[in-house]
Amino acid sequence: MKYMGANELRESYLSFFEGKEHLRLKSAPLIPKNDKSLLLINSGMAPLKPYFTGLETPPKKRITTCQKCIRTGDIENVGKTSRHGTFFEMLGNFSFGDYFKNEIIPWAWEYITEVLAIPKDKLYVTIHLSDDEAFEIWTSKTDIDPKRIFRLGEDNFWEVGIGPCGPCSEIHFDRGAGKIETSEQFEEASEADKIVEFWNLVFTQFDKDEDGKYNNLAHPNIDTGMGLERIATIMQGVNNIFEIDTVKNIVNRVCELTNSKYGQDSEKDISIRIITDHVKSISMMLCDGVQPSNEGRGYVLRRLLRRAARHGRKLGAEGIFLHKIVDTVVENYGGAYEELREKQDFIKKIVTLEEERFNETIDAGMDKLQVVIDEVLANNKNIIEGKDIFTLYDTFGFPVELTEEIAEEKNLKIDLEGFKSHMEEQRRRAQEARGENTYMGSDENPINKISSDIITEFDGYSKTILQAKAIVLATKTEFVNELIKGEEGYVVTNVTPFYAEMGGQVGDKGIISNENCKIEVIDCKKNVGGKIIHYVKVIEGKLTLNELVTLEVNKERRGAISKNHTATHMLHEALREVLGSHVSQSGSYVDQERLRFDFTHFSAITEDELNKIEALVNEKIMEVFEVKTDVMSIEEAKKSGAMALFDDKYAADVRVVSVGEFSKELCGGTHVYNSGQIGIIKIVSESGVAAGIRRIEAVTGVNAIKFMENKNNLLKEVSSMLKCSDKDIVKRLNSQIHELKDKEKEIFELKAKLVQGAEDDILANAREIRGVKVVTSKVEGLDGNSLRDLADKIRNKMELGVVVLASAVDGKVNFVAMATKNSLSSGVHCGKVIKEAATVAGGGGGGRPDMAQAGGKNAEMIEKALEKAYEVLETLVK
Ligand code: ALA
Repeated sequence: MKYMGANELRESYLSFFEGKEHLRLKSAPLIPKNDKSLLLINSGMAPLKPYFTGLETPPKKRITTCQKCIRTGDIENVGKTSRHGTFFEMLGNFSFGDYFKNEIIPWAWEYITEVLAIPKDKLYVTIHLSDDEAFEIWTSKTDIDPKRIFRLGEDNFWEVGIGPCGPCSEIHFDRGAGKIETSEQFEEASEADKIVEFWNLVFTQFDKDEDGKYNNLAHPNIDTGMGLERIATIMQGVNNIFEIDTVKNIVNRVCELTNSKYGQDSEKDISIRIITDHVKSISMMLCDGVQPSNEGRGYVLRRLLRRAARHGRKLGAEGIFLHKIVDTVVENYGGAYEELREKQDFIKKIVTLEEERFNETIDAGMDKLQVVIDEVLANNKNIIEGKDIFTLYDTFGFPVELTEEIAEEKNLKIDLEGFKSHMEEQRRRAQEARGENTYMGSDENPINKISSDIITEFDGYSKTILQAKAIVLATKTEFVNELIKGEEGYVVTNVTPFYAEMGGQVGDKGIISNENCKIEVIDCKKNVGGKIIHYVKVIEGKLTLNELVTLEVNKERRGAISKNHTATHMLHEALREVLGSHVSQSGSYVDQERLRFDFTHFSAITEDELNKIEALVNEKIMEVFEVKTDVMSIEEAKKSGAMALFDDKYAADVRVVSVGEFSKELCGGTHVYNSGQIGIIKIVSESGVAAGIRRIEAVTGVNAIKFMENKNNLLKEVSSMLKCSDKDIVKRLNSQIHELKDKEKEIFELKAKLVQGAEDDILANAREIRGVKVVTSKVEGLDGNSLRDLADKIRNKMELGVVVLASAVDGKVNFVAMATKNSLSSGVHCGKVIKEAATVAGGGGGGRPDMAQAGGKNAEMIEKALEKAYEVLETLVK
């Protein structure tokens, strides 16, 4: 057994199976395609499910891959043990109705005992209790000692949720377990990590459905999975995944950046392992297009990143540092995953932005959490309440896991149940606010139950009208033989010119008809099995199953959509030319009104850049480029320099759309024939949607003209209001703004003068209570500050006295009372006076003996309130 590096092992496995006539495919991206059951790809077979179930045809019946995987079920344990990681690579070979147990068992034995040269007395094999066939093959087609084969139950049936599954046979390595003679001893040794499983051969025979039923697949398949890191620990004679060559390099980098040493302090080791694992995961996720957010996989990403950042802080890392580790990840994994190198700068930017943002959040949240913790301790409690965790999370964006970890460090518990019920409550409120309900959800909808044998062909790239047969009819709850006037439902035809919503392009609308009926197509989408479904409403007559119909797409609408779609490609290219090649699409939406394009870029786009981008697209539109579509292999497409998106990687043949020599992109959408048809593009808006993701919205053709017309009309309206020609608008506005400012100044000065005069008038009306002068007065239109200034001036003119003023502004009343110092010994108390006065005017307030302020609501009560003030003073003054 000779030492093998992880990169060398990966290559050795893939080329071994290439030698057995397998097609080597690149790892699929971590974001699952058309698979709502999965957040992130978690095994080699996950992206290949449609090949197992027969929904799609594989490019070859034998495939081998090294698949990037993420599993977050064990996230709490990552770091605490040295066995768990969130990111891992799964080596696998797959047969789709081709070879079965007879081939895979001897091949697996050949690979591990001859290529890897693992000694046979270090190997154990397990099979499913009932799988005599596997036992037969292991003992007759390999030279394994039959005593080293054990039959187990559940452990040897592989399934995850629903989908393809079956009995399996696992291969294990002995790490010094001693003598093993029974299944029980075997299981005990496994539990104790004395025996490690490293390769799982699954004999995929069933498709488990939502009701838990195991349906036989059309043909048996093979799905195997070998954890690259696990086999590397065996081949490198190390104890755990953090010691294998590639991972160790990252561990070393983490230590270097945090001034720590690995293996000296178990607390610190945990942090080092967490950072190592998580930075690997987030680099891979960002590379594959996951964006940090507060839900779904974006939240997994954010959570991993924040956890890594926090452990960096724990180790004493200063400032932001995670992006520096990304470089080490790319050095070690960029050979196997070239996309990492391509996106290196982008990944680092996003990591930097997120870490910076997190640091700000943490600083704010930590203070709040400390207040909460102090309170818990002061009350002699040991649990942080759910509502506090919720507030920290909801208002301050402070992650729950962090609250949990910090609480744990302080020996406090947290009320997770309480937190969850606050979250649930909030979700419910949000749902109510949106008016959603789940009645008649997808489960009851027949469109996803259409047989996989049915073929629905799209023939609408160059046609918008054709004849076809209605082969499936359904209402929203069941399959039917006819759809009648007024009914809404679904029509499926063997062929259609209607484009089904995909790749950001909306579905077509139009009419289905024959001599018996007229049906409106409201939308067109693919179901989960990829069948094209027309969403319809019957306008006239009735449609019967198997009738011939004419399908006619709304041509004008399609035309507008196609303009926008071609313009989107051109915009994409223009963005790359103006902003740089780091720009890549992260989402798009195209309908008949406008186009929306989301892409990676780390700062707002300047006015100048926007103008350049728009001008470049318009220039290319006017070059009247021919728009061509070619179908070619993915390799050819890449060679030709076509831009490919994350989720198009598995198609064997792809469609490449090119706009002259300007833009070349993989795309299944509809396009114009010539760039000139777009007419013109106008960018309508530019904004940020997430860290490092910008969004541009634009309009083309007639919509762009309308957009400019609207602007023009607006200008006309403004110039008519300003009574000038439009070229004088700016001059005119400037002079009006100046004039306004001068007027404001004048008003201010006049007010000051008025107040000046008011002082003496007000004082002239003073009354006297036992030698103390009392001034009460209503003044017009002064806000709280001006009122206070006035009161202050009046007080300064009195030797011994109190002044109470009130004023109403916009229906709200302000009161202020002030007294000379020497009046206080006579019993004057402004706070008490103002409180009662304000109450009369429907308000409240109070203050010190020498000065108080209050507010009120009822302006018409001001006089009564002031009289009240006087009465109160009567009682107070001795
Ligand atoms: N799909 C199998 C696994 O993940 C090979 O273990």
